[in-house]
Amino acid sequence: MTQIVCHRGASLSAPENTFASAKKALELGGSIIELDIRQSADGVLYVMHDETVDRTTNGTGKVSDLHSDEIDQLDAGRWFNPQFEGEPVPRLDAFLSEFAPNAGFYLEIKKADCAKVAEIVSALGIEEKCFTFSFDPEMRQQMILRAPAIRRMIHWTTAGGVEAAIEEHGAEIVEFHAHDFDPEHIRLCQAAGLQVMFYSDRFDKERFELALEMSMNFVNIDHIEEFSRLKRMA
Ligand code: G3P
Ligand code: CA
Repeated sequence: MTQIVCHRGASLSAPENTFASAKKALELGGSIIELDIRQSADGVLYVMHDETVDRTTNGTGKVSDLHSDEIDQLDAGRWFNPQFEGEPVPRLDAFLSEFAPNAGFYLEIKKADCAKVAEIVSALGIEEKCFTFSFDPEMRQQMILRAPAIRRMIHWTTAGGVEAAIEEHGAEIVEFHAHDFDPEHIRLCQAAGLQVMFYSDRFDKERFELALEMSMNFVNIDHIEEFSRLKRMA
């Protein structure tokens, strides 16, 4: 059955990439948390999407320029809703440790020391609960070298074909987006033994229903509740 990957947690109901967002995502029927990984000036790994902390905290500046002492003081909840005041920017190790008993993880590396990512995942013994991707080819290469035990996902548009996805990118999962969602290509991936995922930040009812009909392995989405409802009716 199609598993729900929760894009930055339940980012429509709680501040993205926080403990609150991940907790809500699991309550709504998600089973895998998508999270973004960045690194502080002193080498601590955090769950944070943007290059700077300005949009999603009461602070300012690049994550890579801030010391962990500064990041740990930030409020990552109030910007979304005052009820989330005091929500911290999660450290990666604490975040994965908190949710590992009940969730899998899609680790999207924005910019980080991939050996440190591998170390944290390995220390928790959760390699098989994770898969990884990065828009940055250097980060993808580093994850192959430093974290070979963590499954890799590649975007269909980046791979350009089944053979490249498997041979060049060493991927086990291929992600399709609205612009390249072609049932024929999805079936080719499935026939080659690849797992397939559909990403959408919109409520794309038609493709959500098609993803269920085609038994796609995952959807990577914001609209967790709505998809859970479609899944129950399928
Ligand atoms: O697979 C990419 C998808 O998770 C989108 O990520 O960081 O652009 O919201 P992002
Ligand atoms: Ca992401």
